[in-house]
Amino acid sequence: MTSPNDHAPTRGAEAVVLVGGRGTRLRPLTLSAPKPMLPTAGVPFLTHLLSRIRAAGITRVVLSTSYQAETFAEYFGDGSRLGLELECVVEPQPLDTAGAIRNVADRLSEPDVLVFNGDVLSGVDLTAMLDAHRSNAADVTLHLVKVADPSRFGCVPTDEHGRVTAFLEKTPDPPVDQVNAGCYAFRREVVEAIPEGRPVSVERETFPGLLESGARLQGHVESSYWLDLGTPAAFARGSADLVLGRAPTGALPGPTGESLVLRDAAIDSTAAVSGGSTVGVGCVVGANARISGSTLFDGARVAEGADVSDSVVGAGAVIGAGVVLSGAVVADGAVIGAGCELLDGARVWPGVELPPCGVRFSHDC
Ligand code: GTP
Repeated sequence: MTSPNDHAPTRGAEAVVLVGGRGTRLRPLTLSAPKPMLPTAGVPFLTHLLSRIRAAGITRVVLSTSYQAETFAEYFGDGSRLGLELECVVEPQPLDTAGAIRNVADRLSEPDVLVFNGDVLSGVDLTAMLDAHRSNAADVTLHLVKVADPSRFGCVPTDEHGRVTAFLEKTPDPPVDQVNAGCYAFRREVVEAIPEGRPVSVERETFPGLLESGARLQGHVESSYWLDLGTPAAFARGSADLVLGRAPTGALPGPTGESLVLRDAAIDSTAAVSGGSTVGVGCVVGANARISGSTLFDGARVAEGADVSDSVVGAGAVIGAGVVLSGAVVADGAVIGAGCELLDGARVWPGVELPPCGVRFSHDC
């Protein structure tokens, strides 16, 4: 049988997406759903990544699951809705990044495997990366990105031929600004050589070990859009960038623009929704409320005069009149009483109820 990618430049490649992490930095949002399943610009985040994989002509995708594993198969099924042949594999225990790749080796049959962290929003040209991988006869090719503040990441220097020379731990004064972007092309034999049945880290064990053994590790530096959605601030930013059209996707359920408003949402005519905000299914936004660069999950309610910026509001949460949220996360079903102010990284756990003016940054209410 011929598959749709038989003639694509990516033929001979299949994809593995790592989606098993607990997403601790995104708590409390990840208490109710794994990070790749969080609603992001109107659909579970993973849908955006899968749309990019499909657009590159890759049709077979294995999801490596662990935390809340069943949610992936429940939503995506066999992947046919997205034009994919999708298989979900559940780990017997969390196996860390490389252990998770090894655990799906027996489901792979193509010579090349593209591996993705399931929480990265990226415009990397997968065809160009695969071409580079093959023309360099690399064992592993890593997508590398240049970032403004490399001290927050492990750095990956390369020589003049693009060959990786080291994997450096986080340091306050990194020698290069290139970091691991969480997307790799592996030769399948390299996947099969990862130790089986125990946790193995790709960054701390597999890549340094391969380098030491003389394997060819190639860096593919690209300056397309890139964001790791691991923190609440990055999550809000990434969702807004998808809506604004700054981040690439084939899965936005509407046109790009200042806002994405899903069905049955009721927004008062005096409210302002902007900066790539998403207003989820059945949300209510009251008079003179201002929503900017934020995501409201389904059924959230924002009362009159509230000001919500760069924030995430969970499903069914209630934001009272005149509340200020800036860089805050309010989990599912929480109630923020009128007049509260939650700023700069505040996180409210599911179902918590703050009384009116219960938390302020100002000295009056
Ligand atoms: P934090 O707990 O906030 O660091 O998030 P995380 O659990 O997602 O960890 P991290 O961002 O380092 O993980 C990178 C990618 O690997 C993510 O897509 C995770 O879902 C995935 N991942 C991490 N650990 C495992 C694991 O044990 N099994 C599987 N299958 N995937 C994992």
